[in-house]
Amino acid sequence: MITLQQLNAMPHEQFVAALTGIFERSPWVAERVVELRPFASRLQLHSAMCKAMDAAGEAEQLALIRAHPELAGRAAIRGELTPESTREQKGAGLAACTPGEFAALHELNLAYGKKFGLPFVIAVRGHNPSSVIENLRRRIANSIEDERIEALRQIGRIAGFRLVDLVSAPYGAEILAMSDELAQFSDQDDALTCSYLTAAHRATAAKIRDWMLAAGMETSIDAVGNVVGRWYANTEPARMLLTGSHYDTVVNGGKYDGRLGILLPIAVVAEMRREGIRLPYTLEVIAFAEEEGVRFKSTFLGSGAIAGKFDTAVLDNLDATGRSMRDAMHAADLDPQAIAAIARDPKELLGFVEVHIEQGPVLLSEDRAVGVVTSIAGSVRALVSIVGLAGHAGTVPMNLRRDAAVAAAEIVLAVEKRCSGTPGLVGTVGQLQVPLGAVNVIPGRCEFSIDIRSDDNAVRYAAFNDVVAVAEQICARRSVKVEIRKMLEVGRVPCAPRLQRHWSKSIERVLGTKDIRHLASGAGHDAMVMQQITDIGMLFVRCGNGGISHHPDETMTAADAEIASLVFKDFLLNFYATES
Ligand code: HGY
Ligand code: MN
Ligand code: MN
Repeated sequence: MITLQQLNAMPHEQFVAALTGIFERSPWVAERVVELRPFASRLQLHSAMCKAMDAAGEAEQLALIRAHPELAGRAAIRGELTPESTREQKGAGLAACTPGEFAALHELNLAYGKKFGLPFVIAVRGHNPSSVIENLRRRIANSIEDERIEALRQIGRIAGFRLVDLVSAPYGAEILAMSDELAQFSDQDDALTCSYLTAAHRATAAKIRDWMLAAGMETSIDAVGNVVGRWYANTEPARMLLTGSHYDTVVNGGKYDGRLGILLPIAVVAEMRREGIRLPYTLEVIAFAEEEGVRFKSTFLGSGAIAGKFDTAVLDNLDATGRSMRDAMHAADLDPQAIAAIARDPKELLGFVEVHIEQGPVLLSEDRAVGVVTSIAGSVRALVSIVGLAGHAGTVPMNLRRDAAVAAAEIVLAVEKRCSGTPGLVGTVGQLQVPLGAVNVIPGRCEFSIDIRSDDNAVRYAAFNDVVAVAEQICARRSVKVEIRKMLEVGRVPCAPRLQRHWSKSIERVLGTKDIRHLASGAGHDAMVMQQITDIGMLFVRCGNGGISHHPDETMTAADAEIASLVFKDFLLNFYATES
């Protein structure tokens, strides 16, 4: 075990010696990065080493690949593997193959070596003999160039796992570095948009899974695309504490909404693993695949499936290109038929806890790093479509028009008017478009969204009904047709007092203060859905830039992520003892 701080400070040759096992029998990689110190995070060290590997000449790269032992090969049998490879091959069950697996591996390794002149290299963590054999069979068909690239990619993954095993680093910097790394996967070049089941979304899931593997968790990706990591209990049978948040984003979103609640638990589990800490319950970290409802206008898909509340009707929802969710799932190798089996058994659960940025200004304005969430505001979302009469912008007199966009504009103002002046009540029209609109055509159609929220169900309910009534009056007066389709209605959700108390005690122990801020959440969260099957608790973490969120300027500090990680770890270590 070594700390990042020590690595940054030690003499060159000691640095190279300390990292000699990261890239199999190839200390030159560490030598190439020693001058780049200090590294702000372990992740930054890892990407610097991978860049040095990628920048090396072909001869060095081939030598690095050839330095890797055959899987379950002669070197393994003769006990000549490096300590890292010994551990990794044993961990994947390759030291205990069945005779059939052993024979298949031997034959495939021979064929692979004959074709490529290289050993087959794969990061075996998370694999077993049969999945290794399946990968080997598939990759033998690759071109030599593709296999060289894939082998180096696998070596980069192996190095990532080995660095987490070896190097302890501050949570905060690690979490922000992981957020930055995930932000590179986007549906668009100039902003962060990660919509359900796009290529960016699948790349994000793969990266999260790798980090869960690196933290020592057993991982899987379920039928809706949730990435699940388990840190098993030190006793069996054991109940489960669930934690997590969503990894999809809004269009042009921020890097921390949802993702903090995934990356922080991963960082804490990685440290507990290094410290040899197991808990008296199983911790399940869930990266929910979809919460924002951007692509298919359905929200909470990931947590809905875990809570057993997935509405299969949404499988027929279409995205802007006319592609159904069902089809997108099949394209992502997900099986809609297997969704029902994802539901967790409430009896097995100790609760669900979610760490999330506040997405507001309260903690920032009071100079607090963290706060305990008391409840989550209820919300109702609807899509409105107005049908008037298109016409020539130059020839139809104003008094004869049935302009769908003007009717919509009047309704937007009515939403603002109705939702202003009542504390805790907010109304938003976030999307508004004239389908197939043109400068010189009177809008025949106009579609827009309505989102109304309040921490008081009656207030929200009355506001929505009033808005519907006014919309219908406006459209009748303007002789246009209106259809209002409710897409989501979720009531205010309380956070369990017992879990609020545990969060407060953890903040008190970590920060040494009894002055704990409790606050309600205006934003919706996966916890709202999880509350249907188990108690929920949420920890809010301060946002910078005035608390802005759902925006590229969304920000937080490493220091606050560090505090939140320490609070989360204290919660994990203490909440159960005081309950059982
Ligand atoms: O809309 C919300 O409150 C959440 O960010 N999806
Ligand atoms: Mn959000
Ligand atoms: Mn969120």
